[in-house]
Amino acid sequence: MRIESFQYSAFASRFPSSIRACTSACIIWCLIVCTSVVSAQTTTRTPRLGPKVVQGQHGIVVCETPVAAEIGGEILAKGGTAVDAAIATAIALQVTWPEAGNIGGGGFMMVAPPHDDVVCVEYRERAPLSTNKNSFVEWTDMHHPRVAGVPGTLRGLELAHQKYGKLSWSELVTPSVKIAREGFEVNEYLAASMNGVLRQKSLQNDPIFEEFRRVYCHPEGRPWQKGDRLVQPDLASTLQIIADDGADSFYEGHIAKQLVDEMSRNGGLITLEDLKSYTATVRPAIVGEVKGYAVYGAPLPSSGGITILNQLRLLEQLPLTRPESTAWSVENVHLLTEAMRRTFRDRAAYLGDTDFIEKPAHLLGPDHAARLASSVNLTKATSSASIANGIKLADDHESMQTTHFSVIDKDGMAVSNTYTLEASYGCRIVVKGAGFLLNNEMGDFNFKPGITNTKGRIGTEPNQIAPGKRMLSSQSPTIVKKDGKVCLVIGSPGGRTIINTVSEILVQKLFFDRSLAEAIDAPRFHHQWFPDVITFEDDEDGLFESMDAQLQRMGHETSHPANRQQGAAHGIEIDPKTGVVTGVSDARLGGGAYAVSP
Ligand code: DON
Repeated sequence: MRIESFQYSAFASRFPSSIRACTSACIIWCLIVCTSVVSAQTTTRTPRLGPKVVQGQHGIVVCETPVAAEIGGEILAKGGTAVDAAIATAIALQVTWPEAGNIGGGGFMMVAPPHDDVVCVEYRERAPLSTNKNSFVEWTDMHHPRVAGVPGTLRGLELAHQKYGKLSWSELVTPSVKIAREGFEVNEYLAASMNGVLRQKSLQNDPIFEEFRRVYCHPEGRPWQKGDRLVQPDLASTLQIIADDGADSFYEGHIAKQLVDEMSRNGGLITLEDLKSYTATVRPAIVGEVKGYAVYGAPLPSSGGITILNQLRLLEQLPLTRPESTAWSVENVHLLTEAMRRTFRDRAAYLGDTDFIEKPAHLLGPDHAARLASSVNLTKATSSASIANGIKLADDHESMQTTHFSVIDKDGMAVSNTYTLEASYGCRIVVKGAGFLLNNEMGDFNFKPGITNTKGRIGTEPNQIAPGKRMLSSQSPTIVKKDGKVCLVIGSPGGRTIINTVSEILVQKLFFDRSLAEAIDAPRFHHQWFPDVITFEDDEDGLFESMDAQLQRMGHETSHPANRQQGAAHGIEIDPKTGVVTGVSDARLGGGAYAVSP
């Protein structure tokens, strides 16, 4: 059964403002079309769509694109497990959501098997073996093969399949070969995404992006429109090899060679040895109790689990009350901001890849959140600089291009998966002849050792580069259980905002007892210690702007960027009393939701 409700649209902000193109035809097109788009963006606002909601007991997939949701859903219908469906969905997102869906990036898959502990299949990218903490001190170009980390996605999917899969690997990959080869219908979100990146000046003429232009420019040199077909023959061949020969083809075989050739052509660092030695890992989830629920979060090298859990535990100690007529009250925003400020400071001080740094066990000790809570003033903002403590501050930004999906199967196995290329379309390098993009994940490391500043740059030791180290992530796929049973599966894209998006949804659910659709629809805000400012979504009702004067009197700095939206959270909830399973797909970037029919 599919029930879709559309209330408001996040679409307008997907049109970037610069006027750029990949060919001369595109340049002319841009001059004519983009000017009108830009002016439309700044003068009118398209109504935003509400979340898509589906229900059913036979399995659900919620993700960024309807085509990928359907491909994952069909795997469930064939008897595949939630992990089988997650693998098929991940590969289908590589084809249908190229700005973030990937085989050239990495991520985190939380798996809740029906009668076992929640685990994390961690497949985060690693630093190439030739790097060290000073390799990027002066580096600023984030659209270059040098900033690609060693991809982890296929090793991660392979490991998840070995542990929890039922159908054959090739059955999971083959549907995506077909849509890459034959093409699929572009919707308005994908059209806006591709048009947006193709307008950027950096992509227009530089020979380094020739392959990108060949793969993603419309064949007629015009902007993409809803209803066009995107055909990706190189990607189809690559996926066919992966379907036939498995992940080894990417790490040791033909695709590995193509990737390393790409590196040597343009100054990248990944070698055959880097690829061959890459492994994905199963790690225990971060788990803690909040309001009678067990919250399972992603472990290091993601900062998500620890940071979210401490935010929620801290908030448990404070007088956080549910507003009845709005999603948030001024008091809520103040208290959540104080929780964000303190936990993001801890993130900078202690978090990194525990294969290289000491485990920060004290952060999950019984007293830590209470200690943080005791320093919160209920009516005044704390200055971020005043809690820097040991972190020396020097004098001296984040986007949406990760993607999250959630899956549940008929037996109750649940998957919460977030994976990413880091920036939109990663480092913008398409591996020649292979049709897939590489990440620019090296930018998640602290590039300048010792330089932490009030603008948000972090230079602390735990997340400095070392050969083979994983960069600290904010990806926060999360699973919540009540009385031992899964009741919520959630996650989001958004760089450091991911952590706060997921926390805000968990507050709406666990503290305020709202439905998942309401929790996902609620407007969002973000504070990350530095810069010391609360940045709000551009909510249609003006709720956040109406809070400004009061928040400023409390000592908060606020920012309301036009058309800003935060995250795209696709989740599933299971009512512990009735057992009703509901999938909710966030419409901020489109979204797809599929429930298997009985
Ligand atoms: O792993 C991370 O924290 C980032 N690379 C995620 C990047 C991201 O979410 C960008 N936009 N959504």
